[in-house]
Amino acid sequence: MSSQIDHLLDENRRFAPSAEFAAQANGTAELYERAAADREGFWADQARELLHWHTPFTEVLDWSNPPFAKWFGDGELSVAYNCLDRHVEAGNGDRVAILFEGEPGDTRRITYAELTAEVKKAANMLESLGIGQGDRVAIYLPMIPEAVIAMLACARVGAIHSVVFGGFSADSLRSRLDDAAARLVITADGGYRKGKVSPLKPAVDQALADRGTGAQETVEHVVVVRRGGNDVAWTEDRDLWWHDLLDQASAEHEARPFPAENPLYILYTSGTTGKPKGVVHTSGGYLTQAVFTNKYILDIHPDTDVFWCTADIGWVTGHTYVAYGPLALGATQVMYEGTPETPQPGRWWDIVQKYGVTILYTAPTAIRSFMKQGRQIPQQYDLSTLRLLGSVGEPINPEAWIWYRDIIGGGKTPIVDTWWQTETGATMIAPMPGVTSTKPGSAQVPLPGISVDVVDEQGNRVENGNGGLLVVTEPWPSMLRGVWGDPERFTETYWAKFADQGYYFAGDGARKDEDGDIWLLGRVDDVMNVSGHRLSTTEIESALVAHEATAEAAVVGAKDDTTGEAVVAFVILKESYLAVHTPEGLATQLRVWVSEQIGPIARPRDIYIVGELPKTRSGKIMRRLLRDVADGREVGDTTTLADTAVMSIISAQVK
Ligand code: WTA
Repeated sequence: MSSQIDHLLDENRRFAPSAEFAAQANGTAELYERAAADREGFWADQARELLHWHTPFTEVLDWSNPPFAKWFGDGELSVAYNCLDRHVEAGNGDRVAILFEGEPGDTRRITYAELTAEVKKAANMLESLGIGQGDRVAIYLPMIPEAVIAMLACARVGAIHSVVFGGFSADSLRSRLDDAAARLVITADGGYRKGKVSPLKPAVDQALADRGTGAQETVEHVVVVRRGGNDVAWTEDRDLWWHDLLDQASAEHEARPFPAENPLYILYTSGTTGKPKGVVHTSGGYLTQAVFTNKYILDIHPDTDVFWCTADIGWVTGHTYVAYGPLALGATQVMYEGTPETPQPGRWWDIVQKYGVTILYTAPTAIRSFMKQGRQIPQQYDLSTLRLLGSVGEPINPEAWIWYRDIIGGGKTPIVDTWWQTETGATMIAPMPGVTSTKPGSAQVPLPGISVDVVDEQGNRVENGNGGLLVVTEPWPSMLRGVWGDPERFTETYWAKFADQGYYFAGDGARKDEDGDIWLLGRVDDVMNVSGHRLSTTEIESALVAHEATAEAAVVGAKDDTTGEAVVAFVILKESYLAVHTPEGLATQLRVWVSEQIGPIARPRDIYIVGELPKTRSGKIMRRLLRDVADGREVGDTTTLADTAVMSIISAQVK
């Protein structure tokens, strides 16, 4: 087993689960057999076992009008009851639901009984404002417990929430409020980020300021949580304090059931056009797969584990693995408000040590940034409680995977690399940690009851050992039910490419290895064509990151007169290498390295050593902007970048 950070890329490394881990794991190989024998029956069993139904369903999947699915269509349930009341009724009211850590260091320990009481009050508050089934409520909050309380309160009254990430601008917020025709906005005065209060309410005021926009017409009230303590402008009659309303609200509220297909939320995700794309999820199928994956892939044991998913509730990961899945399972979880490096670079590891976190679920971008700082930071903390690590959001390069396992997981924790999307609602492809022998860099196998494949442009499945397009071949419980207000866009975006076969096209490239395990290769829009060879960004980036000097890399195809496209790499070096090497020397070394690792065809024409890479606010690299730089074009729209200054720095460095 490797204990080095810097190891040669070696695709043959395998990590079988230890006998000890396998013995306690929730998931067993039998689940795959059951699902293979009767896929729909399997999901029906899961829905019955994992959830409480006020009205049991008799229908499982209705696929009579594809691509519009109904799961458990004649059943009724309350999502909020499943996440709250039933745990209290089962005698677990004293179990901690949320261990909240604010960025300044303030803490709150919220039990299931307390969380249930708060959500009941918030549900009464919503109803007192006239919000009921089908109404849209926008939630624009920091990572504080009120975010989860607001989401569950919407679910409790049958309203549809649309969480807008707190880092989005007034313009982004406005376009989302308009598209959803929201009646209510729940926000805060501000939240803590990087040691300061980052205000939120002014963006809401600005989004609602221009007369004549949709949101100006539909939004009736703005409910404001006090968090930052900063002054806020106040619009009489429209604006209301959360704490005033909750103080007045009764703590009694009966959880009413809603149909399984009642919409639970809209979550906007970036599309190819400027218009935001509102992915719609419903209740019964979504919650089934959310709980299923929390239990069997993340292996959460509610009575002993302390789970921490680091995603913001503004992303789908924060919906399924903070708000809904862990709570429906009755788990105890950590919720952290701030940034990883505040007030010092070891903050996350301090939190793991302080709360005894046992399962950590995070993104490759975070792991790579910790690698850049060096292992000496996490090694100052006791991380021995960790027993399982998860990854989501991007392909995790084998070197980052090994580092994660060795340095964070003490060389012993299984790693589950989970592939899924906002659209899929929950994990689709991942190892099952007590069953699957893991391979660094591969998401490996579809979950029991999920059918995926890799196909060519015509939709023919490719043989093992080949790459192509990743498709989902059968409907699944937590699938998106549509694009808000735009059924044509739903069909066109996801189902048109393989309409004959009826496959869902995810937009990702993938490869099946000789064992049939799946390796994600990045978005197909990012694939490069060099002298007629289609090369994946992920593989070249992984080779670059496997070099001892490299912390992070992004690869794009730039126009080239001879080869059509040429590989251009943007590389961030580890801090310890910056001091002792010249960028030119390292660029030459890396070029040779890539041709040795993958082959001369993949050898980058240009390598730029940079200090930062352009990333979206959820941490994904925006290769489109790097292509602009590589082609010498003016850099395109940077408004969705986490840090809009990054592109001018990179352009200057490249010049
Ligand atoms: C990428 C996040 C490789 C992929 C849950 C997908 C991944 C997009 C992985 C969805 C993974 C997510 N390996 N790639 N384990 N997980 N992706 O909607 O390109 O924010 O299509 O959902 O992220 O991103 P989204």
